[in-house]
Amino acid sequence: MNIILLGPPGAGKGTQAKRLQDAHGAIQLSTGDMLRAEVAAGSELGLQAKAVMDAGQFVSDAIIVDMIAHRIAQPDCAGGFILDGFPRTAAQAEALDGMLAVKALKLHAVIEMVVDEDALIQRITGRYSCASCGAGYHDIFKPTRMPGVCDACGSRDLTRRTDDTVSTVTKRLNVYREQTAPILPYYAAKGVLHRVDGMEEIDEVARQIEAVLAEVAKPAA
Ligand code: AP5
Repeated sequence: MNIILLGPPGAGKGTQAKRLQDAHGAIQLSTGDMLRAEVAAGSELGLQAKAVMDAGQFVSDAIIVDMIAHRIAQPDCAGGFILDGFPRTAAQAEALDGMLAVKALKLHAVIEMVVDEDALIQRITGRYSCASCGAGYHDIFKPTRMPGVCDACGSRDLTRRTDDTVSTVTKRLNVYREQTAPILPYYAAKGVLHRVDGMEEIDEVARQIEAVLAEVAKPAA
């Protein structure tokens, strides 16, 4: 299946995309992760992107669309993909339609993760992850079993994102409201938009997403 997870920063897109990848074998395509990989590699794109990301703004549509078009064309995406953090603007949504049309691919569902913005700052500023294996944690909601040690791989290299500060998150939420929320009606008009309650616990959000996917997979009556 080809799915979009849509929601503001901290809505849980990455958390749920990883679970969907494990459960269904579809590939998680996170534009945020791709950009952070460029930053870590010290590429020219990474250097440009870091300044924009740390300011809480969006990287240009041209760069992002190019990155996703390249990634969707890879063989591992043939079994389906979960878009996490893309599209985020009307131009990106239209570009995605073009990419799917060229490959005769269907967009099965756009899942909006509905959340209370007040909770997001707490979620984001408490987030950390393992630099070695990528496992994600949270100070309150999902701490490591042993402080400072990754549950999954035992590494002590736990890290926080540089854009996860209160002031940057506030800007990211504003940009979401101005540029991303307006694409929700675009998908509603196509009849592919579904909503889940992103304020529920992680397992319950996953259950709601699975219920949407089961509904979408049913043959038309
Ligand atoms: P990106 O990395 O995509 O960040 P984001 O959209 O701001 O989303 P986050 O990763 O912060 O949150 P999430 O929804 O994935 O939540 P998570 O599952 O981690 O983008 C970063 C930057 O890159 C952008 O600001 C922009 O500059 C640039 N960029 C990326 N894509 C772009 C594009 N298409 N166009 C232009 N620029 C782009 O969960 C958050 C925390 O909450 C975790 O600790 C988690 O454990 C916890 N949590 C999750 N679910 C729950 C729950 N149900 N209950 C309690 N806690 C929960």
